[in-house]
Amino acid sequence: MPALRDLTAEERVAYFQGVQPIWGGGLDEPLFVAFQRRLADSIEARDRYRLLGLFEGGSFLSAMKAYELQGRFAGQPVRLIGIGAVFTPPPLRRQGFAAAMLSLAMDEYAHRGCSAAVLFSDIDADYYERLGFRALESRECLVESSALPRPAGGFRAVGPGEEGAVSALLAAGRDGGERLTLSRDGWTLRLQLRRLRELARARGVGEPEWGIRVEGRAGDAVAMIRLGRDTLDLLDAAWTTDAARGRLLGALRDCMARSGRSRLRLWPAHQLRDLFASQQRTAALAMVAPLRDGVAVPGRGASAELALLDHI
Ligand SMILES: CC(C)(COP(=O)(O)OP(=O)(O)OC[C@H]1O[C@@H](n2cnc3c(N)ncnc32)[C@H](O)[C@@H]1OP(=O)(O)O)[C@@H](O)C(=O)NCCC(=O)NCCS
Repeated sequence: MPALRDLTAEERVAYFQGVQPIWGGGLDEPLFVAFQRRLADSIEARDRYRLLGLFEGGSFLSAMKAYELQGRFAGQPVRLIGIGAVFTPPPLRRQGFAAAMLSLAMDEYAHRGCSAAVLFSDIDADYYERLGFRALESRECLVESSALPRPAGGFRAVGPGEEGAVSALLAAGRDGGERLTLSRDGWTLRLQLRRLRELARARGVGEPEWGIRVEGRAGDAVAMIRLGRDTLDLLDAAWTTDAARGRLLGALRDCMARSGRSRLRLWPAHQLRDLFASQQRTAALAMVAPLRDGVAVPGRGASAELALLDHI
Protein backbone atom coordinates (compact mmCIF):
# COMPACT_ATOMS: atom_id res chain seq x y z
CA MET A 1 0.00 0.00 0.00
CA PRO A 2 1.40 3.47 -0.83
CA ALA A 3 2.82 5.33 2.18
CA LEU A 4 3.71 8.93 2.97
CA ARG A 5 7.24 10.02 3.89
CA ASP A 6 9.70 12.90 3.57
CA LEU A 7 11.54 13.15 0.25
CA THR A 8 15.26 12.33 0.24
CA ALA A 9 17.74 14.84 -1.21
CA GLU A 10 17.66 13.11 -4.63
CA GLU A 11 13.88 12.87 -4.64
CA ARG A 12 13.63 16.56 -3.86
CA VAL A 13 15.62 17.35 -6.99
CA ALA A 14 13.21 15.26 -9.11
CA TYR A 15 10.27 17.07 -7.50
CA PHE A 16 11.78 20.54 -8.06
CA GLN A 17 12.52 19.63 -11.68
CA GLY A 18 8.90 18.51 -12.07
CA VAL A 19 7.37 21.70 -10.69
CA GLN A 20 9.82 24.16 -12.30
CA PRO A 21 7.81 24.53 -15.55
CA ILE A 22 4.74 25.43 -13.44
CA TRP A 23 6.10 27.47 -10.52
CA GLY A 24 9.62 28.32 -11.69
CA GLY A 25 8.87 32.05 -11.74
CA GLY A 26 11.16 32.63 -14.72
CA LEU A 27 14.20 30.83 -13.23
CA ASP A 28 15.72 28.16 -15.44
CA GLU A 29 15.81 24.63 -14.09
CA PRO A 30 19.31 24.52 -12.50
CA LEU A 31 18.78 27.88 -10.78
CA PHE A 32 15.30 26.97 -9.60
CA VAL A 33 16.47 23.60 -8.24
CA ALA A 34 19.41 25.24 -6.43
CA PHE A 35 17.08 27.91 -4.97
CA GLN A 36 14.55 25.35 -3.72
CA ARG A 37 17.27 23.09 -2.31
CA ARG A 38 18.86 25.90 -0.36
CA LEU A 39 15.49 26.90 1.03
CA ALA A 40 14.60 23.32 2.00
CA ASP A 41 18.02 22.81 3.63
CA SER A 42 18.00 26.12 5.49
CA ILE A 43 17.92 26.36 9.28
CA GLU A 44 14.67 28.29 8.96
CA ALA A 45 12.99 25.34 7.22
CA ARG A 46 13.81 22.89 10.00
CA ASP A 47 10.89 21.18 11.72
CA ARG A 48 8.06 23.18 10.19
CA TYR A 49 8.61 23.09 6.42
CA ARG A 50 8.66 19.62 4.83
CA LEU A 51 8.63 18.05 1.40
CA LEU A 52 6.43 14.98 1.46
CA GLY A 53 5.75 12.27 -1.08
CA LEU A 54 3.54 9.26 -1.58
CA PHE A 55 5.63 6.16 -2.24
CA GLU A 56 5.16 2.60 -3.29
CA GLY A 57 8.58 1.22 -4.07
CA GLY A 58 11.19 3.52 -5.69
CA SER A 59 10.15 6.99 -6.76
CA PHE A 60 7.35 9.21 -5.52
CA LEU A 61 3.87 8.93 -7.02
CA SER A 62 2.90 12.42 -5.92
CA ALA A 63 4.63 15.08 -3.78
CA MET A 64 3.84 18.32 -1.92
CA LYS A 65 5.10 20.97 0.48
CA ALA A 66 3.79 21.06 4.05
CA TYR A 67 4.12 24.05 6.39
CA GLU A 68 3.17 23.88 10.04
CA LEU A 69 1.39 27.11 10.87
CA GLN A 70 -0.22 28.89 13.80
CA GLY A 71 -3.37 30.87 13.45
CA ARG A 72 -6.61 31.92 15.10
CA PHE A 73 -10.24 31.30 14.35
CA ALA A 74 -13.32 32.42 16.25
CA GLY A 75 -11.10 33.92 18.91
CA GLN A 76 -9.21 30.66 19.56
CA PRO A 77 -5.66 29.65 18.62
CA VAL A 78 -5.51 26.99 15.92
CA ARG A 79 -2.67 24.89 14.52
CA LEU A 80 -2.77 24.31 10.81
CA ILE A 81 -0.99 22.58 7.99
CA GLY A 82 -0.35 24.75 4.95
CA ILE A 83 -0.23 22.72 1.75
CA GLY A 84 1.61 23.89 -1.35
CA ALA A 85 2.82 22.77 -4.79
CA VAL A 86 0.93 19.47 -5.02
CA PHE A 87 2.44 17.63 -7.97
CA THR A 88 2.02 14.24 -9.65
CA PRO A 89 4.40 13.40 -12.52
CA PRO A 90 2.38 13.53 -15.77
CA PRO A 91 2.51 9.78 -16.58
CA LEU A 92 1.12 8.96 -13.11
CA ARG A 93 -1.82 11.35 -13.10
CA ARG A 94 -5.50 10.46 -12.68
CA GLN A 95 -4.88 7.40 -10.57
CA GLY A 96 -5.82 8.99 -7.27
CA PHE A 97 -2.22 9.50 -6.05
CA ALA A 98 -2.51 13.19 -5.17
CA ALA A 99 -5.80 12.54 -3.37
CA ALA A 100 -4.30 9.62 -1.42
CA MET A 101 -1.25 11.68 -0.46
CA LEU A 102 -3.32 14.64 0.70
CA SER A 103 -5.51 12.40 2.78
CA LEU A 104 -2.47 10.71 4.47
CA ALA A 105 -0.78 14.08 5.06
CA MET A 106 -3.93 15.52 6.59
CA ASP A 107 -4.25 12.45 8.86
CA GLU A 108 -0.63 12.78 9.95
CA TYR A 109 -1.03 16.44 10.81
CA ALA A 110 -4.29 15.73 12.65
CA HIS A 111 -2.29 13.32 14.83
CA ARG A 112 0.30 16.04 15.41
CA GLY A 113 -2.46 18.21 16.84
CA CYS A 114 -3.37 20.35 13.83
CA SER A 115 -7.05 20.97 13.37
CA ALA A 116 -7.28 22.39 9.84
CA ALA A 117 -5.51 22.50 6.48
CA VAL A 118 -5.18 25.56 4.23
CA LEU A 119 -4.08 25.84 0.62
CA PHE A 120 -4.28 28.21 -2.34
CA SER A 121 -5.72 26.33 -5.29
CA ASP A 122 -4.43 26.96 -8.79
CA ILE A 123 -6.80 24.42 -10.31
CA ASP A 124 -10.56 24.11 -10.43
CA ALA A 125 -11.58 24.22 -6.77
CA ASP A 126 -13.98 21.26 -7.26
CA TYR A 127 -11.03 18.90 -6.95
CA TYR A 128 -10.19 20.06 -3.46
CA GLU A 129 -13.87 20.37 -2.54
CA ARG A 130 -14.15 16.63 -3.13
CA LEU A 131 -11.32 16.17 -0.62
CA GLY A 132 -13.16 18.11 2.09
CA PHE A 133 -11.90 21.66 1.43
CA ARG A 134 -14.13 24.70 1.15
CA ALA A 135 -13.34 27.82 -0.82
CA LEU A 136 -13.03 31.04 1.20
CA GLU A 137 -13.31 34.61 0.04
CA SER A 138 -10.27 35.36 -2.14
CA ARG A 139 -9.79 38.98 -3.09
CA GLU A 140 -6.90 41.18 -4.15
CA CYS A 141 -6.28 44.89 -4.79
CA LEU A 142 -4.29 46.51 -7.58
CA VAL A 143 -3.45 50.09 -6.73
CA GLU A 144 -1.92 52.64 -9.13
CA SER A 145 1.00 54.49 -7.62
CA SER A 146 -0.80 57.79 -8.31
CA ALA A 147 -3.47 56.69 -5.79
CA LEU A 148 -0.88 56.65 -2.99
CA PRO A 149 0.31 59.69 -1.04
CA ARG A 150 3.51 61.35 -2.22
CA PRO A 151 6.55 60.20 -0.23
CA ALA A 152 7.08 62.51 2.72
CA GLY A 153 10.14 60.90 4.33
CA GLY A 154 10.17 59.36 7.76
CA PHE A 155 10.75 55.81 6.50
CA ARG A 156 13.65 53.46 5.98
CA ALA A 157 14.40 49.91 4.86
CA VAL A 158 14.11 47.30 7.59
CA GLY A 159 17.59 46.26 8.63
CA PRO A 160 19.13 42.97 9.75
CA GLY A 161 18.01 41.75 13.15
CA GLU A 162 14.71 43.63 13.10
CA GLU A 163 12.56 40.56 12.46
CA GLY A 164 11.31 40.50 16.04
CA ALA A 165 10.15 44.11 15.92
CA VAL A 166 8.46 43.53 12.57
CA SER A 167 6.62 40.43 13.88
CA ALA A 168 5.49 42.34 16.96
CA LEU A 169 4.07 45.25 14.95
CA LEU A 170 2.29 42.89 12.55
CA ALA A 171 0.85 40.93 15.48
CA ALA A 172 -0.43 44.14 17.06
CA GLY A 173 -2.18 44.99 13.77
CA ARG A 174 -4.19 41.74 13.86
CA ASP A 175 -7.44 42.60 15.55
CA GLY A 176 -8.12 39.24 17.20
CA GLY A 177 -11.54 39.09 15.53
CA GLU A 178 -13.55 36.06 14.53
CA ARG A 179 -12.10 35.45 11.06
CA LEU A 180 -9.49 32.80 10.25
CA THR A 181 -6.08 34.42 10.42
CA LEU A 182 -2.51 33.13 10.17
CA SER A 183 0.18 34.43 12.50
CA ARG A 184 3.18 36.09 10.95
CA ASP A 185 5.14 34.66 13.84
CA GLY A 186 8.92 34.64 14.10
CA TRP A 187 9.19 31.38 12.21
CA THR A 188 6.99 32.28 9.21
CA LEU A 189 8.71 35.64 8.93
CA ARG A 190 12.18 34.09 9.01
CA LEU A 191 11.24 31.43 6.46
CA GLN A 192 9.74 34.07 4.17
CA LEU A 193 12.92 36.13 4.47
CA ARG A 194 15.07 33.14 3.74
CA ARG A 195 12.93 32.49 0.67
CA LEU A 196 13.29 36.07 -0.59
CA ARG A 197 17.04 36.00 0.02
CA GLU A 198 17.54 32.68 -1.78
CA LEU A 199 15.39 33.90 -4.66
CA ALA A 200 17.47 37.07 -4.96
CA ARG A 201 20.62 34.95 -4.93
CA ALA A 202 19.23 32.69 -7.69
CA ARG A 203 18.35 35.75 -9.77
CA GLY A 204 21.82 37.19 -9.23
CA VAL A 205 20.55 40.35 -7.57
CA GLY A 206 21.71 41.78 -4.24
CA GLU A 207 20.09 41.57 -0.84
CA PRO A 208 16.35 41.93 -1.40
CA GLU A 209 14.47 44.94 -0.09
CA TRP A 210 11.88 43.14 2.01
CA GLY A 211 10.61 45.56 4.58
CA ILE A 212 9.85 49.22 5.22
CA ARG A 213 9.65 50.79 8.63
CA VAL A 214 8.19 54.09 9.80
CA GLU A 215 8.99 55.27 13.33
CA GLY A 216 8.55 58.41 15.31
CA ARG A 217 6.31 60.52 17.46
CA ALA A 218 3.60 60.35 14.79
CA GLY A 219 3.42 56.56 15.16
CA ASP A 220 4.94 53.32 13.87
CA ALA A 221 4.26 51.33 10.74
CA VAL A 222 5.77 48.39 8.93
CA ALA A 223 5.37 46.69 5.54
CA MET A 224 6.66 43.42 4.15
CA ILE A 225 7.21 43.64 0.42
CA ARG A 226 8.61 41.78 -2.55
CA LEU A 227 9.15 42.72 -6.15
CA GLY A 228 6.70 40.87 -8.36
CA ARG A 229 7.14 40.54 -12.08
CA ASP A 230 5.36 43.83 -12.85
CA THR A 231 4.00 44.86 -9.47
CA LEU A 232 5.28 45.72 -6.04
CA ASP A 233 3.64 43.11 -3.80
CA LEU A 234 2.66 44.14 -0.30
CA LEU A 235 2.65 40.90 1.68
CA ASP A 236 1.64 42.34 5.01
CA ALA A 237 1.44 45.70 6.77
CA ALA A 238 0.44 47.28 10.07
CA TRP A 239 0.44 50.73 11.65
CA THR A 240 -0.37 52.36 14.95
CA THR A 241 -1.75 55.72 13.65
CA ASP A 242 -3.24 57.15 10.47
CA ALA A 243 -0.22 59.44 10.13
CA ALA A 244 2.15 56.46 10.20
CA ARG A 245 -0.03 54.69 7.63
CA GLY A 246 0.21 57.74 5.34
CA ARG A 247 4.00 57.72 5.60
CA LEU A 248 4.09 54.01 4.89
CA LEU A 249 1.95 54.37 1.77
CA GLY A 250 4.24 57.21 0.63
CA ALA A 251 7.22 54.92 1.21
CA LEU A 252 5.58 52.27 -0.97
CA ARG A 253 5.09 54.83 -3.73
CA ASP A 254 8.76 55.74 -3.43
CA CYS A 255 9.73 52.07 -3.66
CA MET A 256 7.54 51.67 -6.76
CA ALA A 257 9.21 54.65 -8.43
CA ARG A 258 12.66 53.25 -7.64
CA SER A 259 11.83 49.75 -8.87
CA GLY A 260 9.88 50.77 -11.97
CA ARG A 261 6.58 49.22 -10.82
CA SER A 262 3.45 51.30 -11.48
CA ARG A 263 1.05 49.11 -9.54
CA LEU A 264 0.93 47.86 -5.96
CA ARG A 265 -0.63 44.42 -5.43
CA LEU A 266 -2.00 43.53 -2.03
CA TRP A 267 -4.40 41.18 -0.29
CA PRO A 268 -7.06 42.95 1.74
CA ALA A 269 -6.45 41.41 5.17
CA HIS A 270 -6.09 42.92 8.64
CA GLN A 271 -5.52 46.68 8.56
CA LEU A 272 -5.30 46.57 4.75
CA ARG A 273 -8.81 45.12 4.55
CA ASP A 274 -10.87 48.16 3.61
CA LEU A 275 -8.22 50.52 2.36
CA PHE A 276 -8.61 50.03 -1.40
CA ALA A 277 -11.23 48.66 -3.79
CA SER A 278 -10.73 44.92 -4.18
CA GLN A 279 -11.69 42.38 -6.79
CA GLN A 280 -12.35 38.65 -6.73
CA ARG A 281 -9.24 36.59 -7.51
CA THR A 282 -9.55 34.00 -10.23
CA ALA A 283 -6.41 32.07 -9.25
CA ALA A 284 -4.83 30.96 -6.00
CA LEU A 285 -8.18 30.54 -4.29
CA ALA A 286 -7.92 30.20 -0.52
CA MET A 287 -9.38 26.93 0.77
CA VAL A 288 -9.67 25.34 4.20
CA ALA A 289 -10.55 21.87 5.46
CA PRO A 290 -11.17 20.59 9.00
CA LEU A 291 -8.86 17.71 9.95
CA ARG A 292 -11.08 16.24 12.63
CA ASP A 293 -14.78 15.98 13.34
CA GLY A 294 -16.15 18.80 15.41
CA VAL A 295 -13.39 21.28 14.57
CA ALA A 296 -14.69 24.77 13.84
CA VAL A 297 -13.49 26.16 10.49
CA PRO A 298 -14.96 28.96 8.36
CA GLY A 299 -17.87 28.06 6.11
CA ARG A 300 -17.86 28.12 2.31
CA GLY A 301 -17.32 31.66 0.97
CA ALA A 302 -16.53 33.06 4.43
CA SER A 303 -14.18 35.99 4.57
CA ALA A 304 -10.78 35.27 6.06
CA GLU A 305 -7.65 37.24 6.89
CA LEU A 306 -5.34 35.40 4.51
CA ALA A 307 -2.81 37.19 2.34
CA LEU A 308 -1.89 35.16 -0.70
CA LEU A 309 1.57 34.30 0.58
CA ASP A 310 0.56 33.92 4.18
CA HIS A 311 1.66 30.30 4.31
CA ILE A 312 5.29 30.97 3.45
C1 LIG B 1 -3.46 18.44 -9.88
C2 LIG B 1 -2.62 17.18 -9.78
C3 LIG B 1 -1.70 17.27 -8.58
C4 LIG B 1 -3.55 16.01 -9.59
O1 LIG B 1 -2.76 14.85 -9.40
P1 LIG B 1 -3.36 13.38 -9.62
O2 LIG B 1 -2.47 12.41 -8.90
O3 LIG B 1 -3.64 13.14 -11.03
O4 LIG B 1 -4.72 13.55 -8.82
P2 LIG B 1 -5.86 12.50 -8.56
O5 LIG B 1 -5.63 11.26 -9.36
O6 LIG B 1 -6.05 12.40 -7.10
O7 LIG B 1 -7.09 13.27 -9.13
C5 LIG B 1 -7.26 13.46 -10.51
C6 LIG B 1 -8.20 14.60 -10.63
O8 LIG B 1 -7.48 15.78 -10.56
C7 LIG B 1 -8.33 16.77 -11.05
N1 LIG B 1 -7.51 17.68 -11.81
C8 LIG B 1 -6.29 17.51 -12.34
N2 LIG B 1 -5.89 18.65 -12.95
C9 LIG B 1 -6.87 19.52 -12.76
C10 LIG B 1 -7.06 20.84 -13.17
N3 LIG B 1 -6.15 21.51 -13.87
N4 LIG B 1 -8.22 21.43 -12.79
C11 LIG B 1 -9.13 20.77 -12.08
N5 LIG B 1 -9.01 19.51 -11.67
C12 LIG B 1 -7.89 18.90 -12.04
C13 LIG B 1 -9.35 16.11 -11.93
O9 LIG B 1 -10.58 16.24 -11.24
C14 LIG B 1 -8.95 14.66 -11.93
O10 LIG B 1 -10.07 13.87 -11.85
P3 LIG B 1 -10.52 13.05 -13.16
O11 LIG B 1 -9.39 12.12 -13.45
O12 LIG B 1 -11.74 12.36 -12.70
O13 LIG B 1 -10.74 14.08 -14.21
C15 LIG B 1 -1.80 16.93 -11.07
O14 LIG B 1 -2.66 17.05 -12.18
C16 LIG B 1 -0.63 17.90 -11.23
O15 LIG B 1 0.48 17.65 -10.76
N6 LIG B 1 -0.87 19.02 -11.91
C17 LIG B 1 0.16 20.06 -12.11
C18 LIG B 1 0.43 20.79 -10.80
C19 LIG B 1 -0.80 21.48 -10.23
O16 LIG B 1 -1.49 22.22 -10.91
N7 LIG B 1 -1.05 21.22 -8.94
C20 LIG B 1 -2.17 21.77 -8.23
C21 LIG B 1 -1.78 23.04 -7.59
S1 LIG B 1 -3.10 23.76 -6.64
